[in-house]
Amino acid sequence: MKKLITTVISEADERAVNDSVAALKNGEIVALPTETVYGLAGDATNPESVALIYKAKGRPANNPLICHVSNMRMAQQLVHISPTAETLIRAFWPGPLTLVLPQREGNGIPEAVSAGLSTLAVRCPAQQTTRQIIEQLGHPIAAPSANPSGKLSPTCAEDVEEGLAGKVRLVIDGGSTQVGIESTIVGEMNGKLILLRPGSITADEIAEAAGQVVYDRDDDKITAPGQLASHYAPNALVQLNSTKKEAGSILIGFDKVEGDYNLSPSGNLSEAAHNLFKIIRKADKQNPKKIHISPIPQKGIGIAINDRLRRAAAPRETQ
Ligand code: TXA
Ligand code: MG
Repeated sequence: MKKLITTVISEADERAVNDSVAALKNGEIVALPTETVYGLAGDATNPESVALIYKAKGRPANNPLICHVSNMRMAQQLVHISPTAETLIRAFWPGPLTLVLPQREGNGIPEAVSAGLSTLAVRCPAQQTTRQIIEQLGHPIAAPSANPSGKLSPTCAEDVEEGLAGKVRLVIDGGSTQVGIESTIVGEMNGKLILLRPGSITADEIAEAAGQVVYDRDDDKITAPGQLASHYAPNALVQLNSTKKEAGSILIGFDKVEGDYNLSPSGNLSEAAHNLFKIIRKADKQNPKKIHISPIPQKGIGIAINDRLRRAAAPRETQ
């Protein structure tokens, strides 16, 4: 891959939108902030841009991408939106909810985006600048998290540069992302709602808004490699549910477990999600023997935090 000069522009800079749109129209890929993590964006209707995304990330071709739209109308052109899906969209968009829905035939999305699946993941991000870029481009953008495949998702522009400098032409710096972990993903299959990835919008909140049960996905059946056990891996080995550490290791605390770092000294799970990847990255940079992480309550956003932590701690054979 030809090495690119990576330019960083602040989201507040008036060139941010125009330069991003120009680059996307030109078939280039751009890293954009969202409320969850930074995305590596390309025009979802351009097969060459989509190929560039997979290449820059080193992402396996069978791991589909999320199409980001600026509103429900744009999503309607891509997928069939059932009444239940519409209820969820009205409740949670723009925001960190991705819906996996049946594709419309002839929607102009190259097969590579959905890795050949009959469904497509759609999401409308809360980050206003990013929505404006999509609106002005007039096409959805395909955007996975802007990290090399298998590594931690980036929550600031510096994280993007660290992983992808030379592989992306433009990074829009929107500061530290608000949520800090990736969107909740829900699929609708035969009228059933299935939680494919937990996030800051919880399964309980989705069930309440939809007025129906949300099922857990069958852990034995991997439908997309993002769901492989080992993902979000730092370099150091990770040990969960620790309240103490060994010599040469780092302890990441939560609440009363103090640690070398603390995800949230007041025990606030949203704050812990916001800090999660940032603190794991910081700890990893010190090349510790191990990263120990304190127990996180399995409730609310804690469910999504524990999902990411389990993957960070999983055996690495799948990498
Ligand atoms: O918060 C987010 O969702 C971020 C920001 C950038 O929007 N994006 C993100 O994308 O996390 P990515 O590519 O890192 O994760 C998307 C996940 C992957 O696990 C992928 O396998 C799954 O979504 N996915 C995409 N399309 C799918 C489909 N049609 N069926 C099932 N899973 C799908
Ligand atoms: Mg990712």
